[in-house]
Amino acid sequence: MIELSSKDTPINCEVVKTKIQESGIEQVGKATIRELVRLVNRIETETGDKYIRMEMGVPGLPPSEFGTNAEIEALKKGVASKYPMIEGVQELKDEASRFVKLFLNIIVKPENCIPTVGSMQGGLATFLVAGRRDIKKDTTLFIDPGFPVQKQQHRVMGLKYDSFDVYNYRGEKLREKLESYLSKGNISSILYSNPNNPSWICFSENELKIIAELADKYDAIVIEDLAYFAMDFRQDYSTPGMWPYQPTIANYTDNYTLLISSSKAFSYAGQRVGLMIISDTLFNRKFPDLKRFFSSDNYGYAMVYGAVYSLSSGTSHSAQYGLAAMLKAANDGEYNFVNDVRAYGFRANEMKRLFLANGFEIVYDKDEDRPIADGFYFTFSYGNMSGAELLERLLYYGISAISLDITGSERTNGLRACVSQVKGKYLPALESRLKKFHEHYKNNK
Ligand SMILES: Cc1ncc(COP(=O)(O)O)c(C=O)c1O
Repeated sequence: MIELSSKDTPINCEVVKTKIQESGIEQVGKATIRELVRLVNRIETETGDKYIRMEMGVPGLPPSEFGTNAEIEALKKGVASKYPMIEGVQELKDEASRFVKLFLNIIVKPENCIPTVGSMQGGLATFLVAGRRDIKKDTTLFIDPGFPVQKQQHRVMGLKYDSFDVYNYRGEKLREKLESYLSKGNISSILYSNPNNPSWICFSENELKIIAELADKYDAIVIEDLAYFAMDFRQDYSTPGMWPYQPTIANYTDNYTLLISSSKAFSYAGQRVGLMIISDTLFNRKFPDLKRFFSSDNYGYAMVYGAVYSLSSGTSHSAQYGLAAMLKAANDGEYNFVNDVRAYGFRANEMKRLFLANGFEIVYDKDEDRPIADGFYFTFSYGNMSGAELLERLLYYGISAISLDITGSERTNGLRACVSQVKGKYLPALESRLKKFHEHYKNNK
């Protein structure tokens, strides 16, 4: 391999090297997302050069005025001084119930639609209750790759988890693999995101059916993380009450919790508001072992008055009105929230083209036999270069991403790219930097 300092790299080699050393990060290729953000900020400040920033999944689009205006109005009415009800404001619960009927084609009562402080909190609350409902079932099973913070939530709470990379277990193969974990008897719940962060794979209806059948057989709760609701742009899921609907596990089992985030689909990440949708059946189930931690053995009661109460006493009052207004506009057909974020799909398509033209490959490239969708993330590799090495080397070319290593992926040569901050004006720079990288490394591939 050629020594980095001997190359003509787009970003000053010495500065990058020094900043990496100063950062105190042991291995840049394994750094967390926030560590990389800090490192790249520092290099940008020192050199004055702008990076192609693909490391962090922040929405790059403005939110809808339906949301911001409703929040302003709620604040002017004085909600800031009042504690919100822990189970959520009625307007939001009603619109959430309508939303899941109109965009998922499922029926859930308003009382079982609970606002949370982002899906982050919805997930944590679910881990705390689902993982404690049966003394024998104390482990969450992650269908990886996944969102690293959810594993961190397990670690900080002392909860157990297990995981496997789904890459080699798509389609019917998923059945046997899942069963090998569930048959041990310790799995409380199964978690995946769909579309998936980081790989952007989407499960087929058949795969969802397999997950549901096994969840029922072994009584595991499926936690379906819909952080990227309706963002598989190969289908148009944007018309309320009309087929096609965003696929969901709820069509195949009653043993589910859905996490619906407003952060990406509604570009509302800053307000930290999401929804936990618990099936009517699960909400009312009784689990005597819950009494070890909560005042009630009722799943829904323990969730709201045990977990959500303990974590934050409910969700920001005005943000609930903002989300309620956006959902109402979407439900009434006045606001096409999917059209607002479709730009990510076009951008991903263009960026993938540039990577492929310059010697890179897409790591997770298929849903069974269909090419993967273009969306918020994609994964890429370069020959046999390890992900850690690729990440570090790309920093000298003004490109930042995260390693798949930290997501539970076994594709250790892969990186995740997030398209949200790469506006069209940056694409020429991305192209010339990728070209330069390929020029320097193609003989070592
Ligand atoms: C898969 C997944 N789940 C949950 C979240 C967090 O969502 P929220 O911002 O609603 O807490 C994210 C955010 O990146 C995500 O990618």
